[in-house]
Amino acid sequence: MHRRNFVKACAATAILVHHNPLLLAGGSARSQLYEPVRLVHRNGEPIRPGDLEPHANYVFRYPFEATPCFLLNLNRPTETNVRLKTANGAEYVWRGGVGPERSIVSYAAICTHRLTHPTEQVNFISYREDRSAAAEAGENLITCCMEHSRYDPARGAEVMSGPAPSPLMGILLDYDEQADEIRAVGVTGEDLLDRFFSQFEMQLELAYGGLGKARAPVQETATVVPLSEYTSNDMSC
Ligand code: FES
Repeated sequence: MHRRNFVKACAATAILVHHNPLLLAGGSARSQLYEPVRLVHRNGEPIRPGDLEPHANYVFRYPFEATPCFLLNLNRPTETNVRLKTANGAEYVWRGGVGPERSIVSYAAICTHRLTHPTEQVNFISYREDRSAAAEAGENLITCCMEHSRYDPARGAEVMSGPAPSPLMGILLDYDEQADEIRAVGVTGEDLLDRFFSQFEMQLELAYGGLGKARAPVQETATVVPLSEYTSNDMSC
């Protein structure tokens, strides 16, 4: 192996092990690195943690052009090292939020029940903040309005209620403190990407002009937009 490739491979392994120490323990970890991409605004400027309005839904596409992800600033430090299980019993560890307050999290915006996800036309899944005085932190959940699965974004999108069999697939984020920038570097948890592309093959072909374009890896940067700009019809439960 050439030295440059060796160094790259070591860095990739370090990120992967950091995000999922079960790899070292030989457990059934479910993390996979993809092309690291910088999260940016529409104008190409990097997303800074301070740019993200607390409790607002933001969306970007990763690791493929057709796979939407949530980016959320929960406005408080998340829990760390949460041990989770996928539907088939594979264990993994969700390491927690990133950023100066460890409040920024990201998940595939794809419900693990029947893969409901936001499209340009309509959306049934999003993070909802309970603003009532009686609200507990755990009541700020990602909710899928199709059959009411609810996920806790402060605990790795663990399933709180409903028919979802697994937590939402986590997006691994890497925060560069010096540059004050965020990169998406991989995924963790249930890998539902193959199922997603096979279930929505026809729709994706039409929407993207071919499955190859829908499944093209996102490269270098991923543009983050408010959910309200990603979909024209955000349905609430
Ligand atoms: S598709 Fe989300 S709860 Fe059924």
